[in-house]
Amino acid sequence: MVDKKNDINQVVSIEVADDYALICLNNPPVNAASQLLRQGLQDAMAFCTAQSDIKAIAIYGAGRTFVAGADIKEFGKPPQAPFLPELVNTIEQSSTPVISILHGTALGGGLEIALGTHARVGIKGLRLGLPEIHLGLLPGAGGTQRTPRLVGIPAALEMILSGRHVPAAEALELGLIDQLCEGEARDVAINAAKDVLAGRLKTRRTDQITVKPNHAHLDEVEAKLMATQAHLFSPHKCVEAVRASSLPINEGLKVERHAFMECMDTPQRAGLIHAFFGERAVSNIPEAKGAAREIAKIGIIGGGTMGSGIATACLLAGLSVKLLETAQENLDRGRTTITKNLEGAVKRGKLSQDKFDMVLSNLDGSLEISNFSDVDLVIEAAFEDMAIKKEIFTKLDAVCKKGAVLASNTSYLDINEIAAVTKRPEDVIGLHFFSPAHVMKLLEIVVADKTAPDVVATGFALAKKLRKIGVKAGVCDGFIGNRILSYYSKTASYLVLEGASPEQVDQALERFGFAMGPHKVGDLAGLDIGWMTRKRKAATRSKQDRYAGDVADKICENGWFGRKTGQGYYVYDGSDIRPNPEVRTIIEATRTKLGITPKSFTENEIVDRYMTAMISEAVRVLEDKIAARPVDVDMVFLFGYGFPRHRGGPLHYADEIGAEKLIERIETYAKDDDHYWKVPNLLRDMAAQGKKFADLNR
Ligand code: CAA
Repeated sequence: MVDKKNDINQVVSIEVADDYALICLNNPPVNAASQLLRQGLQDAMAFCTAQSDIKAIAIYGAGRTFVAGADIKEFGKPPQAPFLPELVNTIEQSSTPVISILHGTALGGGLEIALGTHARVGIKGLRLGLPEIHLGLLPGAGGTQRTPRLVGIPAALEMILSGRHVPAAEALELGLIDQLCEGEARDVAINAAKDVLAGRLKTRRTDQITVKPNHAHLDEVEAKLMATQAHLFSPHKCVEAVRASSLPINEGLKVERHAFMECMDTPQRAGLIHAFFGERAVSNIPEAKGAAREIAKIGIIGGGTMGSGIATACLLAGLSVKLLETAQENLDRGRTTITKNLEGAVKRGKLSQDKFDMVLSNLDGSLEISNFSDVDLVIEAAFEDMAIKKEIFTKLDAVCKKGAVLASNTSYLDINEIAAVTKRPEDVIGLHFFSPAHVMKLLEIVVADKTAPDVVATGFALAKKLRKIGVKAGVCDGFIGNRILSYYSKTASYLVLEGASPEQVDQALERFGFAMGPHKVGDLAGLDIGWMTRKRKAATRSKQDRYAGDVADKICENGWFGRKTGQGYYVYDGSDIRPNPEVRTIIEATRTKLGITPKSFTENEIVDRYMTAMISEAVRVLEDKIAARPVDVDMVFLFGYGFPRHRGGPLHYADEIGAEKLIERIETYAKDDDHYWKVPNLLRDMAAQGKKFADLNR
């Protein structure tokens, strides 16, 4: 019988029975190992180990999880004792056996605490992992030394480099946990303590296990990393630390500590942690948390790539979908695309084969908009033409039930103008998906002047249901992402006109961390799309705007639209991709026609110009309140535009450069083109006040 309860501090308590003690960690929501938790656990250990009648100690977590890691909020601030590595050592060196009871998740520092205990009992549903790599770090409290001692170097390295959550059964098989059982954490802790006392549960110190060196495997992994992730810092440091695990533990821990501190000092760590919190911050706003409308039946207008992708995303989330098209053959094509998308989801393990038929049976097709009378939410993904959108929304207004949300997936058009054709503008919203819509995680939730608060909340609820990152945006041409894209993509064209080659621009930005440079992206998306837009906008283009489409227009006039036609900026020959020699001729002819003497650009100059353009327009998007905070812009770029996650987003990256330096760059570039390059007022104010974009997130 447990007979004494003692609060060590606000987050740690002890219960003492005749011959064992339970230490409970209770730091909601995820029991992060904050300073308070570390202090409490250290004091609890000191208390228990000082009592000679306590013969076993069981540590468990209250609430939904064991410890989900170090407290990430503390990173980047001055470290405060007690430090996790020493605490884990203290637990390990205890002469009283200590066991950990793991439920929910045991991640990062949480798993490292468990590795320091003398036995680990998992509760069904548990997931274990060392996800520090996703934060630009490595497991820094013994994880790189103790994991190989339990599971060997290859399995430990795989866990550390992937950061994946290992399911409980696999963890048991690997030897990461000693037992797997069911029950409430506290009950399991009592039983486990009794089992230790009765000799039914064996205990041992992880640091006393030796690791067989495996340099051949480590060399192979490092070579692969050099080929694929040379630009990232922490993966290489993980290999270095795991390599040291075959040394005596104190030496290995020293190598780990040094490597951890090196990672901690990098901008990559700061960028990745900004991304971790940013992903959550975008929906941590009152508008997202209000009461939402019920949504079960979705109507989708348009069975093209976008409409089919949106339909797939909705079906995968368990929603039922009615797809509307204008002709049976289009409807059939839409259904085929959706079926293929779902088959792809099965292949990628996102959908089980058993559920495939059931999910597909939730898809219904229609050629009559009148069939939308019972849907809860409509997403219009028709042709990007205001007249067509207005016609559709007029019809929707007539047929949809009261309270139905009427959304447009337009990428650029004015939602206020669309809403104005209905008698219920409060029900109208923009839901801007990114292609392929069943894969890309971003959803821009475009709030028009009259959109009702519960419709905005419904947009966020839908994003959550679809497992997407919903970001609130205001109405303007292109909202947050495409407005900024329209601006900075001109820089890539100007660089080519002025002397760089398309492949040089692409390579510089790929080295910066983009998966693909802008010309490769253009080839993939289809160069005809931009060509059509340029032609559509030709009449409204300001005379002062320096035209950026000369080269791209000429490429398109040859019928070269990129990958789908076999050539664009590049020539595509099976897996072989090479710069298109004809494009070089077009570029040279265009320069001659425009009287441009080409100059040379270094890789840094290319990146600086491109990023400065992106940042400038991002700042104007903030000034115009199209994005509420810098973090909203950052997440749009991480989840919709392939911006390198370790850079945190354009405005996080802007803080690394600093407002003053950015102004200096813009003023220099403006000497050649003072219409395109203008210093945003907000940037001037920030430089004057010594402010950072991070300050505007608070
Ligand atoms: N530190 C601080 N806060 C954390 C946190 C952590 N380690 N993990 C989660 N949180 C916060 C989240 O920011 C969120 O806060 P808000 O509600 O204010 O937005 C809240 O806890 C709930 O988190 P989620 O919304 O993510 O909840 P979920 O149920 O979807 O996921 C989870 C839970 C799987 C634990 C997920 O939060 C997660 O993956 N957390 C990070 C785990 C991690 O990376 N651990 C390693 C930390 S680094 C380390 O430990 C270094 C070392 O070696 C010493």
